[in-house]
Formats: sequence, structure tokens, C-alpha cells
Amino acid sequence: MSIIILGIESSCDDTSAAVIKDGLLLSNVVASQAVHEAYGGVVPELASRAHQQNVVPVVHEALKRAGIAKEQLSAVAFTRGPGLMGSLLVGVSFAKGLACSLGVPMIDVNHLHGHVLAHFIQAPDEDFNPPEFPFLCLLVSGGNSQIILVNAYNDMKVIGQTIDDAAGEAIDKCSKVMGLGYPGGPVIDKLARQGNPSAYTFSKPHIPGYDYSFSGLKTSFLYSLREWLQDDPDFIVHHKEDLAASLEATIVDILMSKLRKAAKDLNIREVAVAGGVSANNGLRNAFREHAKKYGWKVYIPKFGYTTDNAAMIAMTGYFKYLDKQFCTIDMPAYSRVLI
Ligand code: KG4
Repeated sequence: MSIIILGIESSCDDTSAAVIKDGLLLSNVVASQAVHEAYGGVVPELASRAHQQNVVPVVHEALKRAGIAKEQLSAVAFTRGPGLMGSLLVGVSFAKGLACSLGVPMIDVNHLHGHVLAHFIQAPDEDFNPPEFPFLCLLVSGGNSQIILVNAYNDMKVIGQTIDDAAGEAIDKCSKVMGLGYPGGPVIDKLARQGNPSAYTFSKPHIPGYDYSFSGLKTSFLYSLREWLQDDPDFIVHHKEDLAASLEATIVDILMSKLRKAAKDLNIREVAVAGGVSANNGLRNAFREHAKKYGWKVYIPKFGYTTDNAAMIAMTGYFKYLDKQFCTIDMPAYSRVLI
């Protein structure tokens, strides 16, 4: 009998539902929330209200596109955390209620595991070239920057992580300081393509092991900018491309140096990248260059699977289903990392 998993994602500001049948993606619907743009960041209360409005139509649409009736589902998988508590509660409650009403198991998914296992999403008419175990995954998003050692689908270990800000958070904050709006990542990426990455130097952290830190860079960017603006009030207008390119180059350099160290120490050449910041072209180019220079086999996700989506949650749910890793109704959502 086929295994059909419905995945539900609501950890931040995207409401998403996806259906996977025997490991193959049948549908992936994402409703993004434009309401936050006016505020320069995600407003938690608005996010959870928008999830409440979106969750039923999004799930309905995912089932419809997949050609699956809800009675055919084998299990319902959902993001249990980490994320915004109000947002998580909507998806978690809906998923648990649906699973109970259908009498099928519920599967809790760690959002970060979902990002890593996005590399195993297999969709009709799409290339499928997943990493081989064990591999390293650089997980970079708005809330996390981690190096994860992935031994198997359901066996992964965080070996390094940020001790303060995440890479995406640093990009978003610097972009906000430059008046470029939210989210800053895509704008910085676009501007950086036209700028000189060596134009400016910002401070880099000296942290032992495989951990990251981005708060010093953020402060260095802010203070440098303040000084330059004193001499030229239009400094940002005149130099935004070079500023974006130099900021991006600094962040990519910080990310790649720790990843290189981990790959060397652990003698692993299968290296993947995941999370929202993996959409960044500078980072993608750095991965390709490392592949050539260090003989790495690199895995870069399709753009649509870099940001929050339920396909990765359904995929992770599928692997947990195969291992019979189910959850119970009393397991609550969690806002912070549990691994
Ligand atoms: O994984 P994600 O969608 O959400 C979570 O944080 O879970 O990541 C969002 C982050 C934001 O900080 C956004 O600015 C960044 O990913 N981002 C990018 C790009 N696209 C999105 N950063 C750099 N370059 C991009 N092209």
C-alpha cells in the first residue's frame, strides 16, 4: 500500500502544505505573507493571524493539486519548531486535529531537519541528485547558521552554530540600516552582483571550533556606515552596490572558512547548503569554487526549496514514517532549537 504524507509548515511567515506519495512530491503550495513588508520585519501577531486565514485553503489546495482525498493520507507531518510560537501553534493544532479526525499518526518535524532533507525532495520532471551519507550541511537562514553532520535521514548532529545572530539576520539588519527594506537578502544579492567585493573591509569574528558569530560584523557595518555618512550624506546612494558586495563577501568568507575546517577535520567531501540564505548567488558561487578547488561534491537546492516550504516537512515526515517515529498529541510546539 502507498505511503501518503501531508506536510504542514507554519514556523514563520509562510503557510505551506505539501503531499508526498511513496517519496515522490505531488504538490507543494506556499502562501507568503506580504503584510510584513510595511514593518521591515515579521510581526509575530500578524503572522499567526495570517496563518489562521491561510491554513485551510492551503491544505485544501495541496490535496487538490495532488489528486489525493484526505481519507487516503497515511499520516500528517507538521513543523513543531523552532519558530515563532504563535505561528507554530496554528500549524501544530491544525495538523494534530486533522490527524485525530482521520485516525492516522501525526509526525512532528524539526524545521531545521526539514531544511537539510530538502535535498531528498524528488519531484516529477526534476533532476534528482541527493547527497550521500555522511555529508555536511551548511544551514543558513534568517534564524539559524549551523554546520550539521548528517549520518542518515534521521541521524544528524549540529557540530557548529552561531553564538549570536544568524547570517540571514545580519544581512537583513544591514539592509535595513541601508534603507533597502525587508527581507534584505534578495536585494543585497542583486546589488552585490554589480559591486566590488573588496571595496570595504568589515570585522570578522575569531571564534574557536566550528561556531559562528555575526553580531560583530553587523556592528562594524553600522559604525563604518555612520562615519562615511558624516562625510557624504548620500554615501549609501553612491556606494550601495560596493557596500552590498563587500558585506556579502565578508559573510560568505566567514561561512565557508568554518565549513572548510569541518570538511577537512572530518575528511568529508560531500557538502550541502540549505536554508533561505542558500539562495544567495555569492554563496552558491563559493560552493562551486570549493568543489573545484577542494574536490568537494556540492549540493545546492533548487530555489523553491531554499525558503520555508512544506515539501521538506512532508519529506522529513516520510522518512520518520518509515522509521515509525510518530508523536503524541501532548507534544507541544517549541520556539527554540531542541537538538
Ligand atoms: O529559511 P528562511 O526562508 O526563513 C527562516 O529563517 O527560517 O530564510 C530567510 C532568510 C532571510 O534572512 C533572507 O534575507 C535570506 O534568507 N535570503 C537571502 C536571499 N534570499 C533570502 N539572503 C541572501 N541572498 C539571498 N538571495
